[in-house]
Amino acid sequence: MPQHSPAAVIVLAAGEGTRMKSATPKVMHPIAGRSLLHHAINAAAGTGPEHLVVVLRHAREQVASHVESIAGVLDRSVLVADQDDVPGTGRAAECALTQLPEGLTGTVVVTYGDVPLLTAGTLYALVEHHESQTNAVTVLSANVANPTGYGRIVRDAAGDLERIVEEKDADDEVRRLREINSGIYAFDAAVLRESLARVDTDNAQGEKYLTDVIGIARGGGSRVAALTTDDVWQVEGANDRVQLAQLGRELNRRIVEGHMRAGVTVVDPETTWIDADAVIAPDVTIQPGVQLHGACDIATGAAIGPDSTLSDTEVGEGATVIRTHGSLSVIGAGATVGPFAYLRPGTELGTNGKIGTFVETKNAQIGAGTKVPHLTYVGDATIGEQSNIGASSVFVNYDGVHKNRTTIGSFVKTGSDTMFIAPVTVGDGAYSGAGTVIREDVPAGALAITEGRQRNIEGWVVAKRPGTAAARAAQMAGGAAEASATTDPAGPNGPGSADNADNAEKES
Ligand code: UD1
Ligand code: CA
Repeated sequence: MPQHSPAAVIVLAAGEGTRMKSATPKVMHPIAGRSLLHHAINAAAGTGPEHLVVVLRHAREQVASHVESIAGVLDRSVLVADQDDVPGTGRAAECALTQLPEGLTGTVVVTYGDVPLLTAGTLYALVEHHESQTNAVTVLSANVANPTGYGRIVRDAAGDLERIVEEKDADDEVRRLREINSGIYAFDAAVLRESLARVDTDNAQGEKYLTDVIGIARGGGSRVAALTTDDVWQVEGANDRVQLAQLGRELNRRIVEGHMRAGVTVVDPETTWIDADAVIAPDVTIQPGVQLHGACDIATGAAIGPDSTLSDTEVGEGATVIRTHGSLSVIGAGATVGPFAYLRPGTELGTNGKIGTFVETKNAQIGAGTKVPHLTYVGDATIGEQSNIGASSVFVNYDGVHKNRTTIGSFVKTGSDTMFIAPVTVGDGAYSGAGTVIREDVPAGALAITEGRQRNIEGWVVAKRPGTAAARAAQMAGGAAEASATTDPAGPNGPGSADNADNAEKES
């Protein structure tokens, strides 16, 4: 029984990707929350190779540091090989070999950094087939409707793989072939090394073609074969932004379907976008128009949406999140958020807590059972348990120079329109009156109110805003008789009406 983890996987990513027309290297463009290269390296690493090498040239430093961070996420070594001035996939593979032990034996897989839907399972099946057939080279091929641009698989009369011909080197007969080279291969390490040394650049593009290894190996008496895949998406590369979007949609479709098969209700898969890193428990319900970006973790019974975007956010068991934009936040079990809530990084809502409508939070720990129901900004705050923050309150965290914290205890009830001028502390069980501006600490159990008595200037509207609807309404209500003389007598509610006449008499 052969052991099917390859000795090495080589990921080619030296190309420039000019058709992306981007300042960002092609392989660093993301779909489903990970770069193309991250998807490719994931698949490669998933086969458990002893060595994993990525070949770079274009934007070398930027991509190399990206490779390093991917290696960190995967917690394994990923080597970088530099391609020199000689162009072509063959040269790229040859440069990768310089990073591998000279006497390496076994299977070497070659794949591309811009092929994001390829899975470890497919690579593994390729290696298994390659080794069980004792091939020297096995090419992953696919039959496609439009083969333009691809290398064509040319088979001999017996149907065996003979060679691969690039589009630019092909005659009309070869161009009509619809079996294409995916660019993904399993090689015997020694055959690859020896054949690459003999590949020249004598072709239409003046490149060292990796595909020439097939003809050379076969000519030397080695077994070469093509393994056809039915899943063409898995071998498709992203060359421009149209393909990037197509691959992104298909990958999303696969991810969403995977969650549904694992017990997640997704009401509208078409408008649901879930990144590869999301973890979603069974019996979560996702309503239309939801995006889960990055490493979201959604516990069972939670309901998300409609129309919510969460990034790197944890949602507890049975929580409800409606029309919300949130990032780097933690929503407790049984909590409710939204509609129309904005949770910025560092928001932590406790069990059964509430962040309601038109509420913005940032760096805020809101305790279990605490409610912030309406029209409020909570920034840089710690609030205890079972407290209630009145509507339209502001945690005034910025003094123009520094950000300051507000600390509020448990069982606190603050009135509507309370301003917490940080740094400030409100003790357990304290209250505040509506419109309070809290500049000083409030002891436990105290009622904080801001003095500033209300004064009513009688008749002001009718006197100063004559002829307005408000003035007329005031007169109808008997609010300001002395100003009736200035009212437009032709107005619909002018002094001709009985009520107004009465009021005028009463109040003058
Ligand atoms: C190559 C194959 C072709 C196959 C197609 C599948 C060769 C000669 N041709 O086409 O048969 O149908 O892939 O997509 O192999 N790269 C390098 N260094 C280079 C050139 C390319 O690392 O010098 C990398 C690119 O970054 C990319 C991959 O190899 O990830 C494929 O390059 P690309 O130019 O798209 O493929 P072709 O050579 O056109
Ligand atoms: Ca390509």
